[in-house]
Amino acid sequence: MSKERTFIAIKPDGVQRGLIGEILNRFERKGFKLVALKQLIPSKALAEQHYGVHKDRPFFGGLVNFITSGPVVAMVWEGDEVISSARKIIGSTKPVEAEPGTIRGDLAINIGRNVIHGSDSPQTAEFEIQLWFQSSELNEWTPTDQIWRVEN
Ligand code: RTP
Ligand code: MG
Repeated sequence: MSKERTFIAIKPDGVQRGLIGEILNRFERKGFKLVALKQLIPSKALAEQHYGVHKDRPFFGGLVNFITSGPVVAMVWEGDEVISSARKIIGSTKPVEAEPGTIRGDLAINIGRNVIHGSDSPQTAEFEIQLWFQSSELNEWTPTDQIWRVEN
């Protein structure tokens, strides 16, 4: 087991639709630890850096416009293999392919309004966490029930 951190963001559609609590609940229930959380309206520069790998794709402009269109809830979650585990909780990029029980499978119908973002690899997670957060915004803490979630 490797302890990891991942960057998760509730996109403007998830915020506008009142899904923040529903989404946070799924990560909390799983047992992951929240180490950073804030709401912000991303700047164009931030959005373009975040989605830089897609800059030559036809949907890039629309994606940047959408992600900067309103508040986003940005988070860092920590735990055993949280990067791949969070991607499973989130579900496939296309909501039609996302399994019921996943966030996109339960809460979205359209690829361009798929509610949530999650880092897709350790390298991406490291890049995205430092892009969205100052290191002083990341909290080191131990939940009082941690011994019931992980082996020592
Ligand atoms: P995300 O980065 O937002 O977590 O989503 P993802 O890893 O599941 O998917 P990715 O391939 O990174 O695509 C980023 C976002 O771009 C939009 N997209 N639209 N119209 C299209 O063909 C298309 N393809 C991707 C989606 O909103 C996707 O979440
Ligand atoms: Mg992605």
